[in-house]
Amino acid sequence: MLASRQRVNARLWAAIASDEGSAKLQDAMIHACADGGKRIRPLLTYASALAVGGSVEQADAAATAVELIHCYSLVHDDLPAMDDDDLRRGKPTVHKAFDEATAILVGDALQALAFELLCADGAGVSSEQRIDMIACLASAAGARGMVGGQALDFEAVGEAQTLEQLEKMHSLKTGALIRAAIRLGALSHDLCSAEALASLDVYAAKLGLAFQVRDDILDEISDTATLGKPQGSDSGANKPTYLSLLGLEVARTKAEELAGEAIKALEHFDEKAEPLRRLADYIVERLN
Ligand code: IPE
Ligand code: IPE
Ligand code: MG
Ligand code: MG
Ligand code: MG
Repeated sequence: MLASRQRVNARLWAAIASDEGSAKLQDAMIHACADGGKRIRPLLTYASALAVGGSVEQADAAATAVELIHCYSLVHDDLPAMDDDDLRRGKPTVHKAFDEATAILVGDALQALAFELLCADGAGVSSEQRIDMIACLASAAGARGMVGGQALDFEAVGEAQTLEQLEKMHSLKTGALIRAAIRLGALSHDLCSAEALASLDVYAAKLGLAFQVRDDILDEISDTATLGKPQGSDSGANKPTYLSLLGLEVARTKAEELAGEAIKALEHFDEKAEPLRRLADYIVERLN
């Protein structure tokens, strides 16, 4: 995991570095992508590429792009108009360290940069593959994916939610980008079969939900220093979560069951899928 984290970090800094435009904006983009994030989505992209017989080189652009979208989503998520959080990855959020206008622009710039990376030539990924990858990331990031989920999250504040509504919201808000991370890894390899993609989609759907259940649990049981973001942010903002609906013990069981189902979806994969299996365990055992 360490090698993949270092790999994507190096690519993030290289992608952001530029002699053009605003130096302040560039500093804020670096702050937004700070080392301290777990890099779960790029790790999933690399692991998925390896599982289908591809290479980390082929998956580099996708891994970096998906983390750029994720970092942008966090910067906007923390804004006063949204979750209004002051701490992220153990540091002041971008609007605190800089200002709100800069934080909005950082998000805009990171999103555009993600698509620029996917368009660039390299690593033997064909133009057709690139178009599929761009389409995949665009729909996962937009109103039918992450942004749509964020909208449902805010519409749900203070409202009674059914489990079904909560799962719909989670599957878009967090699940869509995690699904895309995994699909992009597979798409970066030109020989990925339709069957393998379908199994990876099942793995990804289960894992995306497990990830958000764990996020909700940690918001309740952890502490701010460990999380690197404010503990209790969900209940403070009256957000419906797995915990508010099901309670801690049921939520814990649910996360473990989902990780088990994710691993089961990989039963036709060989040992090349071991990193994906290990990531499923890590996602529900993680402490931050
Ligand atoms: C946090 O994501 C936001 C959610 C989608 C719930 P991560 O827990 O992956 O955050 P970092 O990237 O490690 O900071
Ligand atoms: C954020 O969800 C999800 C996105 C940024 C798309 P949360 O609001 O639960 O994330 P944290 O808890 O602030 O990291
Ligand atoms: Mg939020
Ligand atoms: Mg938040
Ligand atoms: Mg949360």
